[in-house]
Amino acid sequence: MSLRTVSREALVGSITLGVVFIVGYVFGKKKSSRMSLSKSHGEGKENPLLQYVLNHSMREHPVLKNLRLRTLEDSWSIMMVSCEQSQFMVNLAKLIKTKKALEIGVYTGYNTLNIALSLPDDGVVVACDVSEEYTNIGKPFWKEAGVEQKIDLRIQPALKTLDNLLAADQAGTFDFVFIDADKVNYDSYFEKSLQLLRKGGIIAIDNVLWGGKVLNPTPDDADTVAIDKLNKKLHKDTRISISMLTVGDGVTIAIKL
Ligand SMILES: C[S@@+](CC[C@H](N)C(=O)[O-])C[C@H]1O[C@@H](n2cnc3c(N)ncnc32)[C@H](O)[C@@H]1O
Ligand SMILES: *[C@@H]1O[C@H](CO)[C@@H](O)[C@H](O)[C@H]1NC(C)=O
Repeated sequence: MSLRTVSREALVGSITLGVVFIVGYVFGKKKSSRMSLSKSHGEGKENPLLQYVLNHSMREHPVLKNLRLRTLEDSWSIMMVSCEQSQFMVNLAKLIKTKKALEIGVYTGYNTLNIALSLPDDGVVVACDVSEEYTNIGKPFWKEAGVEQKIDLRIQPALKTLDNLLAADQAGTFDFVFIDADKVNYDSYFEKSLQLLRKGGIIAIDNVLWGGKVLNPTPDDADTVAIDKLNKKLHKDTRISISMLTVGDGVTIAIKL
């Protein structure tokens, strides 16, 4: 389904960002400090400033680091969240004392594991994905880190899992949600997550800049159109307060009022 499209789009987006960065770096040295919109997957080798940020802030659990390195061997590793973005989101989750989290789009579970490591003993992260293949890469690491019992993996379309949670009376019980699956369903993921969230809970929405394509959405590009539409909606949504951050591929932080 759209997974391959999503990945191809992400790849094109990354390449575009890479080109933009290189052009900016070569032709405008002064501006280079602002051109930090780039994933840190290559550990920031392409961007000295990002490397500095990583060198001076990353506190990666050793098993989490090994999962990142293992994921980098996978041909779809571009889908993995950047480590500095994940660490920031986990800090937010800890700040609001998250016990119950939701990950929509797990892949190998880098962020899922990071969240699980931050949860109290009785905490849980409900992890939604359609791929056994990807999540199976992560499972041994979840186990090695000693938090597999905190990860409730549900292999089926995420919309179905969200509907099941709502049907099981879990509205208003989640503290933190990370939306990072297929883009055309982003609006539905957001609406259902908002119902599942408690007041003061946080939804983080990934790829809101989509490699810069949101500047010029073409009508036949369903992913970009969906992201841009949600961005416009969230801007004036009075149910939440928001910040749109330029970390990684752009992440919007929405706090339920
Ligand atoms: C960008 S990756 C997630 C990255 C992950 N959050 C991380 O921390 O590295 C997107 C994931 O969404 C999954 N996905 C795609 N469509 C889905 C759907 N309808 N329901 C649930 N998961 C889906 C894909 O299998 C893929 O693993
Ligand atoms: C980051 O750390 C590595 C390893 O210690 C070092 O080789 C590199 O020069 C550092 N880069 C920056 C920009 O701090």
